[in-house]
Amino acid sequence: MSDSSPLHSLARRSRHDVEITTRYGGRTVAETPTKPQAAGVVEQTPGIVDLTSYGKDFAANPYPYYAELRAQGPVHRVRISEGPEAWLIVGYDAVRTALADDRLKKDWWAAGMMDENAEDSPLFKHMLDSDPPHHTRLRKLVAREFTSRRVEALRPRVQEITDELLDAMLAAPDGRADLVETLAFPLPMTVICELIGVPDIDRSAFRAWSNEIVAPTDPSAVNDAIRAMTAYLVDLIEQKRGVPGDDLLSALIRTSEEGGDRLSRDELVGMAFLLLVAGHETTVSLISNGVRALLQHPDQLAALRADTSLLDNAVEEMLRYDGPVETATWRFTSEPVEIGGTVIPAREPILIALASASRDPERFAAADEFDITREPRGHVAFGHGIHFCLGAPLARMEARIAIGALLDRCSDLALDCPADALTWRPSMLIRGTEQLPIRWANDRT
Ligand code: HEM
Repeated sequence: MSDSSPLHSLARRSRHDVEITTRYGGRTVAETPTKPQAAGVVEQTPGIVDLTSYGKDFAANPYPYYAELRAQGPVHRVRISEGPEAWLIVGYDAVRTALADDRLKKDWWAAGMMDENAEDSPLFKHMLDSDPPHHTRLRKLVAREFTSRRVEALRPRVQEITDELLDAMLAAPDGRADLVETLAFPLPMTVICELIGVPDIDRSAFRAWSNEIVAPTDPSAVNDAIRAMTAYLVDLIEQKRGVPGDDLLSALIRTSEEGGDRLSRDELVGMAFLLLVAGHETTVSLISNGVRALLQHPDQLAALRADTSLLDNAVEEMLRYDGPVETATWRFTSEPVEIGGTVIPAREPILIALASASRDPERFAAADEFDITREPRGHVAFGHGIHFCLGAPLARMEARIAIGALLDRCSDLALDCPADALTWRPSMLIRGTEQLPIRWANDRT
């Protein structure tokens, strides 16, 4: 498996090698402890489920596998490709409980997962890898920028960027395009770069580093990507210090914490990294997974065309049905923790399967059906608890505008390849296809 995110992939060198390294920064984590016996409780140790044995089928459609696991219980010990053995939480209730459990830590150092001699990249000094009170402080510094009200002010610009991208896409003489390349990627990337103040970014290089960090393909490539991304952001922050702009990064450089210190250089790098990467990687897949779901369910597409007031609800259903984040970022038990009847020992890596929870029939009737008229509230596509997605209002607005405008301008839209020809991103973190070939006719340009 691969994971990351602002997330990390742990890569175990071999099954007998106790040293675990991340695929993201060469993070060397401390030796895996022998499992402590929890006093007074009988540890239920399920057999290890080898997710690697499912191959590409699992990446293309993990839902039947999650359904099978849920039927057996909410918590499983799993083997994942390119990662350590971990605990996977699949049931809706257990997922919500785990996301809100403060004994599951996000800070790798505090959780005792890092080798004390390890060098860590400043990229990872961000709120999603922090626990309170550090997390609280970092989140508070930017939370006001991402409220629904602040995001609403961006609407005209998001619409304008969308219109320009669609103008360019619809100019294709053959009426064909890759939706990821033409709209789903450049829209959120442009929006977040403008918000943060990334001026003349080399978008293709940045995208390549970001993709490698989020869905790693190779240990040396991920190390190179981390080094390049770090150098780029350090340089950008230095430039902004000299010539501040009217943007979030310049504001953060100026900001003094109330009664405290400024953000350190490393914290600024970590914040910029998290916002830039989380701000686009996920939304790309919301737009492309959402459009794919519509194209594969013509009745739902027709229902949405017939009543465009269903759009907001349709986007929520897209998040529930096939959301962009398959498993949440790594968490670690700080002590033995009982979840869904299983006691997980201390210092164990945990993966929380958001995609599985949002398809749990115990919570959503006919959960495997894509139905834009259902009540999808309660899905966990944006997480839950203190790390609930900061960018949810922005992501929702971008997806609503992008999908609404696309349908409006392409009255006859179709998938331009067989569904089984689509290739999936190699990640258990981000769920989405590399491309989404589409074709259209009768467009109203
Ligand atoms: C459809 C798009 C998006 C989805 C599905 C999504 C999903 C998530 C999820 C599941 C988490 C929690 C991860 C965990 O607990 O391990 C998260 C956290 C976060 N997201 Fe998003 N996200 C999206 C878009 C965005 C955007 C546009 C931004 C823009 C800034 C953003 C910024 C963040 C940040 C900063 C966090 C960390 C919050 C914290 O640690 O307190 N996300 N996101």
